[in-house]
Amino acid sequence: MSQEPNAATFFNSFAEAFDTIYDQKRNPFMRWVDGKFRSDMFLRYALTFEALEPLTGRTVLDVGCGSGPYIAEAFKRGAERVTGLDPAPNMLALVRQRLAQAGVTERQYELVTGLFPETPVGLHDYAIVMGVMDYVEDASAFLKALRPAVQRLAVVSFPSTHWFRTPFRKFRYQLRHCPVYFYTDTSIRKLCEQTGFSDIRIQKIPGAGMDFHVSLRP
Ligand SMILES: C[S@@+](CC[C@H](N)C(=O)[O-])C[C@H]1O[C@@H](n2cnc3c(N)ncnc32)[C@H](O)[C@@H]1O
Repeated sequence: MSQEPNAATFFNSFAEAFDTIYDQKRNPFMRWVDGKFRSDMFLRYALTFEALEPLTGRTVLDVGCGSGPYIAEAFKRGAERVTGLDPAPNMLALVRQRLAQAGVTERQYELVTGLFPETPVGLHDYAIVMGVMDYVEDASAFLKALRPAVQRLAVVSFPSTHWFRTPFRKFRYQLRHCPVYFYTDTSIRKLCEQTGFSDIRIQKIPGAGMDFHVSLRP
């Protein structure tokens, strides 16, 4: 088995709460926590759209799209069509809501309920995989399947290990029956090379950073 179905179950029940991180709708204490410990989420968002240039007229695949903040931004920047894939139906319901509010019509996007790589996807110019590799047991099978789905560039985040935060994170997710996986610069490079990607650019997100932000050419 290459995927843990528990990530889907966990994110399905956590969808509303997760979405509030982006919209800063949380109480002042949680906003402080997010600013201090989740700044990676905002930095990887900025780095992603820096890498995906130009977006006008391009097609985008968002694997593990969650509540769809990247999908909405891709449309804002001129993307022609976006496919969002996520196993959590409650996340996809939030994407629909977000896109309707942004005035994006249903003909411009497709939302697929499922896990990658088990769920087949078509060819897109770009792929976005943010905050997902944390929950993928077989990263090699995942990246091998991603490559033929991308024509121009894929951007993927990988969580790194931190001597203090990682044991806590592992423990928290163990309680939720949702295993998490961690990577190093060397293991990411090896994985990406072995799965046939080229022009591998790895950036470690600074500060509270637990993430590597990686861009890959198929
Ligand atoms: C931390 S959230 C990130 C959501 C979004 N990409 C973002 O950055 O805001 C992780 C998402 O990945 C989804 N997910 C986990 N494993 C997956 C897999 N194997 N294939 C597709 N989606 C997956 C979860 O359901 C969840 O919505």
